[in-house]
Parts: sequence; C-alpha cells; structure tokens
Amino acid sequence: MFTIETNPTASVEESYRELNTQLAALLSGERDLICNAAQFSAFVMQTVADLNWSGFYFARGEELVLGPYVGKVACTRIPFGRGVCGKAATALQTQRIEDVHAFEGHIACDAASASEVVIPVVVDGKLIGVFDMDSPKVGRFSEADQVGLESFVSTFIAATDMNWSI
Ligand code: SME
Repeated sequence: MFTIETNPTASVEESYRELNTQLAALLSGERDLICNAAQFSAFVMQTVADLNWSGFYFARGEELVLGPYVGKVACTRIPFGRGVCGKAATALQTQRIEDVHAFEGHIACDAASASEVVIPVVVDGKLIGVFDMDSPKVGRFSEADQVGLESFVSTFIAATDMNWSI
C-alpha cells in the first residue's frame, strides 16, 4: 500500500513540493504511459482538494482523445483549438480558467464544473496530450496551484516512457 502524507499546516507552495516528492516515489519503477497516467490522475484527485475531474486527453492526429481519468464519464474526442483542452493543445500553454461559463467554447462534460486548469504535456517540443482538472468551485485554482500542478506534470513526464504502443 502507498500512503500519501499530507501536511495541513504547510503553505500551498510547500504542500505541492512535499506532494511532488511523494508523486515521484509513487511513479518510480514504472514507465508505462497508460499505467502512470492512471496513477497520476488518481494521485491528483486524492491530494488536490475540491476537484470533480482529473485526467488526460492524448494527441491523436488533429484531435485529443480521452485517456485515463477519475471523474464522471466525459467527451471522448476534442478537436485541436476547441474548448479549454483544445486551446491548451494549440497554444502549448497552461490554461487556467477562473469561471468556465465565461470561457467561450468551453465544453461541459460535467455540469458541476465551474473552474478548470489544463496543462499541455510536451516532450522534446512535441505535444503528447493534455492533463485536465475541473473543480465545482469558481476560482479554485490560484497561480500557486498552477505552478504546483505544472511541477506534478513535469514529474509525470520524467517518470514515463512516452513512446507508448500496444
Ligand atoms: N471542459 C473541457 C472538456 C473536457 S472535460 O472538462 C473533462 C474543455 O472545455 O476542453
């Protein structure tokens, strides 16, 4: 069993640093993309408060296809440029959305979602996919959350073999 330690007195920045060390330990010894993506999604859901969806979309041609996630069933394919995920995929930059209802083109998979962060997964300049988190709280994600979550994604990339095939 892998036990995750949380520190309720730590700052947001310190919490992410401590969690990131545990994430690296969780993913160590396993390099499979699907396996690590599934573990990563669950780790984020378990450690980041107030989320209702945590998971991946992988780049396939000119669209994103649903990968491992935790949450309600979701839309399976998102063309590049569409929604928050498609924008992260084309801009190759994290999208941190305070209020998804104010984002033109937002794709509502779970009606409860109110704010969202999407982080592109880029390796050697190539888009592998995006990691998406939704929260039922407006403005859930601060800049410190974005920095911490991006550090999680960096750990995932370092731990994982991206040349995945069946
Ligand atoms: N809201 C996303 C779609 C994916 S779901 O949130 C899981 C978007 O606008 O791209």
